Amino acid sequence: MAFLLLFLLSFVFNPANAQSRSSIIEPGSSLSPNNNSYWLSESGQFAFGFYPYGNGYSVGIWFENIPQKTVVWTLNRDDPPFTGDATLLLSTQGRLTVRPTQGREVLIAGVANAASSASMLDSGNFVLFGSSSGIIWQSFDFPTDTILPGQPLVVNSKLVSDVSETNHTSGKFQIIMQDDGNLVQYPVEAVGVGFSYWSSETNHVGYGASLNLDSEGLLYLQNATGFNITSLNNKVAATGKSIYRATIDADGIFRLYSHSSNRLDNWFIEWSSSDNKCDPIGLCGENSYCFSMEGEPVCQCPPRFVYIDEEHKDLGCRKNYSLVACTERNYQTFNFSKLVDFSWKDSDSYLNVSARTENDCRSECSRDCNCEAALYNNQSCKMLKLPLRFGRRDTSSQIITLLKIAGELAGPGTRKRKLRIDILITSLALACSTLVFLVVAAIGVLKYRSRVQEYNRILCSVNNRVAEDVALKSFTLEELKDATNNFVEEIGKGAYGTVFRGVISEAAGERMVAIKRLEKVVAEGEREFRNEMKAIGITHHKNLVRLLGYCYDGTDRLLVYEYMKNGSLADFLFKSKLKINWEGRVEIVLNIARGLCYLHEECETQIIHCDIKPENILMDDNGYAKIADFGLAKLLMPNQSKTYTGLRGTMGYVAPEWVWNLPITVKADVYSFGIMLFEIVCCRRRVEADVPENEQFLADWVYDCFKANEVEMLVRNEEVTKSKLERMVKVGLWCIQDEALSRPSMKEVTLMLEGRVNIPDPPLLRSFLRSPDPLLLGSFVSSP
Ligand SMILES: *[C@@H]1O[C@H](CO)[C@@H](O)[C@H](O)[C@H]1NC(C)=O
Ligand SMILES: *[C@@H]1O[C@H](CO)[C@@H](O)[C@H](O)[C@H]1NC(C)=O
Ligand SMILES: *[C@@H]1O[C@H](CO)[C@@H](O)[C@H](O)[C@H]1NC(C)=O
Ligand SMILES: *[C@@H]1O[C@H](CO)[C@@H](O)[C@H](O)[C@H]1NC(C)=O
Ligand SMILES: *[C@@H]1O[C@H](CO)[C@@H](O)[C@H](O)[C@H]1NC(C)=O
Ligand SMILES: *[C@@H]1O[C@H](CO)[C@@H](O)[C@H](O)[C@H]1NC(C)=O
Ligand SMILES: *[C@@H]1O[C@H](CO)[C@@H](O)[C@H](O)[C@H]1NC(C)=O
Ligand SMILES: *[C@@H]1O[C@H](CO)[C@@H](O)[C@H](O)[C@H]1NC(C)=O
Repeated sequence: MAFLLLFLLSFVFNPANAQSRSSIIEPGSSLSPNNNSYWLSESGQFAFGFYPYGNGYSVGIWFENIPQKTVVWTLNRDDPPFTGDATLLLSTQGRLTVRPTQGREVLIAGVANAASSASMLDSGNFVLFGSSSGIIWQSFDFPTDTILPGQPLVVNSKLVSDVSETNHTSGKFQIIMQDDGNLVQYPVEAVGVGFSYWSSETNHVGYGASLNLDSEGLLYLQNATGFNITSLNNKVAATGKSIYRATIDADGIFRLYSHSSNRLDNWFIEWSSSDNKCDPIGLCGENSYCFSMEGEPVCQCPPRFVYIDEEHKDLGCRKNYSLVACTERNYQTFNFSKLVDFSWKDSDSYLNVSARTENDCRSECSRDCNCEAALYNNQSCKMLKLPLRFGRRDTSSQIITLLKIAGELAGPGTRKRKLRIDILITSLALACSTLVFLVVAAIGVLKYRSRVQEYNRILCSVNNRVAEDVALKSFTLEELKDATNNFVEEIGKGAYGTVFRGVISEAAGERMVAIKRLEKVVAEGEREFRNEMKAIGITHHKNLVRLLGYCYDGTDRLLVYEYMKNGSLADFLFKSKLKINWEGRVEIVLNIARGLCYLHEECETQIIHCDIKPENILMDDNGYAKIADFGLAKLLMPNQSKTYTGLRGTMGYVAPEWVWNLPITVKADVYSFGIMLFEIVCCRRRVEADVPENEQFLADWVYDCFKANEVEMLVRNEEVTKSKLERMVKVGLWCIQDEALSRPSMKEVTLMLEGRVNIPDPPLLRSFLRSPDPLLLGSFVSSP
């Protein structure tokens, strides 16, 4: 079977060149692909070094003493391969780097703590030791698509499949150890309700669970306190088996493999997450469905559709016809093609009407010019726009798919504009009550479930069940002076105070932290301060910067946070030369939306951030965006009444209610989020001087482009479909509605961004606030 050859390297390694099997690698040691050298583990089972890949070399770890040379870990898998003249060096300063003769040096590990030696362990873990011979870095902490015995997949980490058997770039599928204790598989492009195609069904386990593989080939889940919850497979009958690995394969299925002690055998599949290769959602692209033929998945197009690319059938299908302009008068001319027993997840249904028969459903759809397809099932008729996504044959679904096709063929042309104008007119008439209705209706549609077994992730993810380790540490000023070397290394300055880098000691070793010295804090009792700290401390979400401790000493108030070495989103967007690609930016927007959603709706006490802007979003090592500085607005309150009036955020991001002196609610954050969303989408600041005049104020420009149906102007030179871009823009325009009530909640924003509800066109009413009227802006102060 083909996938057994996974990662089989076409190149034959030449073990004769291998360096000696000394397991300790001293500073000064180096490797180079030219002399084909690598570092072996003591038994010779694993090797670390360069292996041939594409037209160059990658750095990774592989099984050395089986002929398949299966790769289990790769450094920076999405980067282009290294050239043959690169050198991998454990420097005498204790940094592990790869240096191509041309281009940038790549640091593998060892910034904060210099390594005194390194070792390729027999477990398959490549480790760096610190001066006190503790491990300061290990490859086991950064899994790619495989875990090995003794390597846990810890909470909030994931494995991502390869693109194909021969290409180890990140592919389409992932398996995530979620913070609710569930191990779940999703397509990379759609995490959330309804998109999971397999789960361990252990969401009752709670925060801190991990997936483990033992040396006898048992895959099992443990809870935070180390209790074995369940195992995924039965114990392997261990005759002559010696090695194991668990890998999410390029086809999206998670498999446990064993290899016998006979070198010449192949990998054997002990267990798979699924037997049906059509199960992984997203295997086939838009408007196509997965069909299992003799066990192998095939992507097929519905009638009157053709492959977007005959050579790559998994890219999806497009219409091989064009509809004439749909108007009230000509709807009778449309006809439908029909598919029986197919289900589509994430089909962007915008209306659910009841229809007694399939024919009623057809006529509902033909009467509605927005309807491009309809799903009929049990007297219900879901009307959709194309594309249909994530289709598969599902004989138990009894769903009839009706695709609207033209009664007559006509050239492309007037239709789109015309529809647009209709929509604009209708949407202008939308009042905020209509929004509420539409969102409710859309969420209603969402509740519709296909019968495929699926795991429903809690909407805004995460839970309040906080693990024990969350207890905040209380520091003395002296301790923090020590930690920061008397506050020498300033790494930032924000509205609330100055931030310093520091190092604190923990049971597990030293830890780099960011220490914020608060200024302008309203004098407040110790007890109250501790309570505020507690409220912040119990927040626990992967898109929020963690508070580790605080100091209340005399007049000093300091906060100790986890350290984010990658800096702020503002640096990434506006300063870095490396542009984040579209998918990356969409992911960042989603991260922030989820974090805010958590603050607004999931915390015990609701937290309004009050100062959402790119400077307050930090980027972690894994590229997740995390919200910083939340919960601090209350500490700056000028009176004890705990209302937010009188406070202010940063000019340009603040909602009109600040100016109008209206009560501040979570919707103020939604407004700031909307402004920031535009900045992220367009990679520029909300106000810029050296651009054409009509583009200077970003929100105005976005508004104008949307109104003119020219959103593609916003991101020049970038590969993104207009419909995706338009969705983002629409979400942003909803968020910056003048009326707080008209703005969606962050939960609704999250749903829209995840593509799980249809987004009605936002009302196009020009806000007076966007263009800076000096008189108006003068009336509120900006923070530094
Ligand atoms: C391989 O090349 C590196 C760098 O050029 C060198 O330091 C190392 O000694 C070489 N190893 C062997 C086995 O030739
Ligand atoms: C792997 O696939 C990616 C995208 O799918 C492509 O950009 C890259 O060139 C491929 N690499 C190799 C070595 O085939
Ligand atoms: C782990 O499971 C054990 C046994 O069911 C239970 O006593 C313990 O509280 C659990 N730990 C956590 C953190 O849920
Ligand atoms: C959990 O299972 C693993 C693997 O079988 C075993 O090594 C470990 O001792 C078990 N732990 C407990 C607490 O039972
Ligand atoms: C697409 O449409 C054209 C013209 O209508 C037709 O000739 C062609 O056969 C169609 N292609 C497929 C694959 O159905
Ligand atoms: C619609 O399609 C059906 C079958 O595909 C055909 O019998 C019928 O004549 C078509 N009607 C029109 C108006 O084209
Ligand atoms: C869709 O319509 C059907 C039939 O009227 C109804 O039973 C179902 O509850 C509706 N679903 C939603 C999500 O509104
Ligand atoms: C069809 O829907 C009705 C309610 O709308 C429900 O009572 C019935 O069980 C459904 N039938 C099937 C086969 O799902």
